[in-house]
Amino acid sequence: MPEFGVISTPINVDLLDSPAPPARLREGTMRYSQLFIPTVKEVPAEAETPSHRLMIRAGLIRRLASGTYTYLPLGWRCLKKIMAIVRQEMDAAGAQEICLPILQPMELWQQTGRDVVYKDILCHFTDHHGRENVLAPTAEEVVTVLAGAEISSYKQLPINLYQINTKFRDEFRPRFGVLRSREFLMKDAYSFDATADGLNESYRKMYDAYRRIFDRCGLKYVVVEAESGGMGGTDTEEFMVPCSAGEDVIVHTEDYSYAANIEKAEVDPPPAAQRPSTEPAGDPQEVHTPDVGSIEAVCAFLGTEPTEMIKTLIYTAGGQTIAALVRGDHEINENKLAHAAGSEAVALADEETIVRVSGAKVGFAGPIGLADKVDKLIVDHAAAAMAEGVTGANKSDYHVRSVVPGRDFPLEGDNVKVTDIRNAVQGDTYQDCELHFARGIEVGHVFKLGTKYSQALGATFLDEGGQAKPCLMGCYGIGINRILASAIELGHDENGCILPVSIAPFEVEVIPLNNDKPEVVETADRIYQQLGDAGVDVLLDDRDARPGVKFKDADLIGIPLRVVVGERGLKDGNVEIKRREDAKPTPVPVDRAVAEAQEVLKELRRRCS
Ligand SMILES: Nc1ncnc2c1ncn2[C@@H]1O[C@H](COP(=O)(O)OP(=O)(O)O)[C@@H](O)[C@H]1O
Ligand SMILES: [Mg+2]
Repeated sequence: MPEFGVISTPINVDLLDSPAPPARLREGTMRYSQLFIPTVKEVPAEAETPSHRLMIRAGLIRRLASGTYTYLPLGWRCLKKIMAIVRQEMDAAGAQEICLPILQPMELWQQTGRDVVYKDILCHFTDHHGRENVLAPTAEEVVTVLAGAEISSYKQLPINLYQINTKFRDEFRPRFGVLRSREFLMKDAYSFDATADGLNESYRKMYDAYRRIFDRCGLKYVVVEAESGGMGGTDTEEFMVPCSAGEDVIVHTEDYSYAANIEKAEVDPPPAAQRPSTEPAGDPQEVHTPDVGSIEAVCAFLGTEPTEMIKTLIYTAGGQTIAALVRGDHEINENKLAHAAGSEAVALADEETIVRVSGAKVGFAGPIGLADKVDKLIVDHAAAAMAEGVTGANKSDYHVRSVVPGRDFPLEGDNVKVTDIRNAVQGDTYQDCELHFARGIEVGHVFKLGTKYSQALGATFLDEGGQAKPCLMGCYGIGINRILASAIELGHDENGCILPVSIAPFEVEVIPLNNDKPEVVETADRIYQQLGDAGVDVLLDDRDARPGVKFKDADLIGIPLRVVVGERGLKDGNVEIKRREDAKPTPVPVDRAVAEAQEVLKELRRRCS
C-alpha cells in the first residue's frame, strides 16, 4: 500500500509523543499494585478463539451475559487509544463529531422499511406511553432526519457527521467474545452531498481516512468489494483483517488486484469450448428415488456425484416466483440471484409455493417444464454448461437422469436468463486469474448510499437553481472493539497478547525483580519516572511478587516493550530491555536505559504509521 505509507494529514504519529500528564496525575493509575488487572489461568469453554481467550485471561474483559462484555481498566485503555486514533483521523478528514441518541423511534425504521429488513437483529421495546423504540443498531434514519431538518441549501453541503457510540444488535449467534457481540462500540459516519462527484469525494476521503486508521492501529488488512445487503446503495467496500477466526470469506487473485467478499465475488463463466463437455445424452429417464430429496441423499442413492446434479431452488421476490438452477456441488448466492432477478432481495419459497410450482413435495423440483410455471427461470453459467445432469422430476419421489440444458429445458426466452448466481469455489477464475480464498474479520465498511434514506425521510436541499433535491448520502462504519480483538488474533503466542504499540494498554512496562532490594526498587522507579516525563505511557510492576509471576503477567498482557531491573544485572551496571516479540532480552547500561527504550519505542511506533 505504498501511497498510504506516509501520513499526509497534519495528524501523525508524533502525537504519540505528546507529553504524558505530570507525575502528580500519573501516580496511582500506572502502578500495577493499584490497577485492577484480574488475570486468570482458566477460561470458559465457549472461548474458542485466541482473542476471546486472551482478552479474558489478560483481564481486559469480562462477560456479563450472552454477547455483552464489561471492559476492565486495561481493555478500556486499549479502546480509548483506538478511539483517539479514529477521532484524530476523522477530524483531519473534515468529519465532525456529534452524539446521537441510542433510543430511536420505531416509526423512523418503518419509514425506510428497515423495520422489516433488520427485524431479526432489532432490539426493541414498548415504553410507558405505548411507543415502540429501537436500540440503535446503526443510525442512518436518525441522522437523515437531523439533516432533513437542518439542511436547506446546497451551500451547507458537503457535511460529514460522525459519532462513536454504543450499538445494539440482537445477533442470533453472538460469538468469539467481542468479535461478534450484541452490544458494541461503533464509529459511524454519514456524509451528505449535493452532487454525485461530491459523494465520490466524500467517500474517497473516508476510504483514505480508514486506511490511515487501520495502519495506525497496526493492523494488516485488505480492502474488498462488498455487497450492500440491507443498506441499499451502490459502491461499497469492506476493510478485512485476514485471519482464521474471521466469519467472512475473502475471494482474491494472488496479487490481490481483485479482492471481494464471497457474497459479491464474481467468477468467469466456463470457457465456451467446454460446453458441452461430452457427447449429447440419450433421452431423459425418470428414476424412482423414494424419500431422497437432498443432493447428498440422491447421490448416495443413485451413485452419482454432486457435480453431475442440477439443483433446482424456488425463491420468491416481491410477489414473483423464481426458479434458480445451479450445479449440485455449487452454492447459490442469494445476492447475485436478487440482482439477476432485478429485486432488492430474494427469499426461499415456503413449502406451499414449492408444492404449487413443482407439483411435488419439497426436494423434487426440477427444470423440465418449469419455465412456464414460474415468473423467472435463472440458470447459473456452470449448470447451463453441463452436458447432462440429474434433476428433480417435479413428481414426488422421482428424479430424472440425462437432462440436457437447452434441450430439455430452455436457456433462452423472455423469462429465462443464464448468468452468475453462485458462490465462487476453488478452481474458479476471475478475468482468467485463479481465485484464492481466505477468512477475514470485517473491521470497517464504507458505503455510497445514494438517496435511499434522504428520499424516504425527506432530507432535501435547494440546488443552485432553487430546485429541491434529496441529499446524496454515504455511510461509514468501524467496529472499535473488533479492532482490538483482531489485533490480538493477529498478534499473540501461547503466552499471551503481542499488541501493536499504538493500541496496547501501555507502551512500556518497567519490572523490578527484587522488591526487597532498595537499589533495584529505586532504579526501576527512576526509569519509570523518566520515561513518564518523556511522554511515554508506562506501567510499573511494583507488586511484591516473584519474578516468574511478573514475567507471566507481562507476557499475557502483551505490553510491547519491557525494561527489567534485577539485582544481578545492576551489579554489572545493566538493566535488560526486551520487546514482547523477542525471545531474549538485551542488556543495556543503566544510564542508557531510558534513551535505549525510547529508541526501540520509536521503531515500534513507526510500525503503526
Ligand atoms: N455484532 C458486532 N459485534 C462487533 N462489531 C460489529 C458487530 N456488527 C458490526 N460490527 C462492526 O461495525 C462495523 C459496521 O457495521 P455494519 O457494516 O453495519 O455491520 P454488518 O456488516 O455486520 O452488517 C462492521 O464493519 C464491524 O466492524
Ligand atoms: Mg458491514
